[in-house]
Amino acid sequence: MARFSSLWSACVWVAACWFAPFPAHAQSGYDVPFVPTPPVVVEEMLRLANVGPADFVIDLGSGDGRILIAAAEKFGARGIGVDLDPDRIEESVYGAQLAGVSDRIAFQRQDLFKFDISRASVVTMYLLPSVNIKLRPRLLKELKPGTRIVSHDFDLEDWRPDQKSTVRKNVFLWIVPARVDGRWRASIALPAGERGYEIEIRQKFQEIDGLVRYDKKIASLWNARLSGDHISFVVVDDSGPVETNLYFDGRVAGDAIEGVIRRGVGSDQRQIKWRANRIASAS
Ligand SMILES: C[S@@+](CC[C@H](N)C(=O)[O-])C[C@H]1O[C@@H](n2cnc3c(N)ncnc32)[C@H](O)[C@@H]1O
Repeated sequence: MARFSSLWSACVWVAACWFAPFPAHAQSGYDVPFVPTPPVVVEEMLRLANVGPADFVIDLGSGDGRILIAAAEKFGARGIGVDLDPDRIEESVYGAQLAGVSDRIAFQRQDLFKFDISRASVVTMYLLPSVNIKLRPRLLKELKPGTRIVSHDFDLEDWRPDQKSTVRKNVFLWIVPARVDGRWRASIALPAGERGYEIEIRQKFQEIDGLVRYDKKIASLWNARLSGDHISFVVVDDSGPVETNLYFDGRVAGDAIEGVIRRGVGSDQRQIKWRANRIASAS
């Protein structure tokens, strides 16, 4: 019985600590309670996102401002934090002054669901699974390809992270992918002559696969990868006497891809410029 009662008190204590911040904030109508990210996790989030002086970081639900203050103080970034709680905004402004980074970061009292995120090169979040999922369509639509998103503790369901790190807590990193799904047409100057390719790409977030049609044949796109606006894949070229790999690399800009194909290996390696235009989007 004594053992049961001590186990029970331990459970009550854990539950009390875990849920302690929730009621007050739930009453204030916020979507997420204020639970600050521990400094070592802040450091890991910013390291994983590779934050640097060229970055503009937006912290959605910025709490006491610690992520942005660290981003400015230790990584030289600029940015803005948004939170609904006026006390948190006041603390953040004061914290930024103390750290001497008020010229690089700002804090705004606003609903994160209404805040314009398109300026960000990095978005940081410590929210809740339901909030992450509600935000997901906007993250995909409004952020530029290549923008890094880091989330403390909670993922984005079937949008798999590009990287995951665990330093006391899980930290997830996503790189916003360009939209590459659909059919693309390219004409490639191969040594055996010009060849027209129709490239069909299927996409689920940053995961892509596809096929290529040419001369009434169909071949696979091998090792297809997408990271932000950078796409790469391999097509086997059978136009010459010996089959050779064509290593496609390119940058996606709207309905065009431009880049370089490496053909052959070692001293035999040649580079061919290529460009593809989208002729149909996936529905
Ligand atoms: C878990 S805390 C994270 C604080 C900080 N980003 C960190 O990691 O230390 C979540 C913050 O989101 C804020 N918040 C909740 N709902 C919000 C909303 N709809 N718009 C803006 N901020 C919100 C809360 O006030 C709280 O400060």
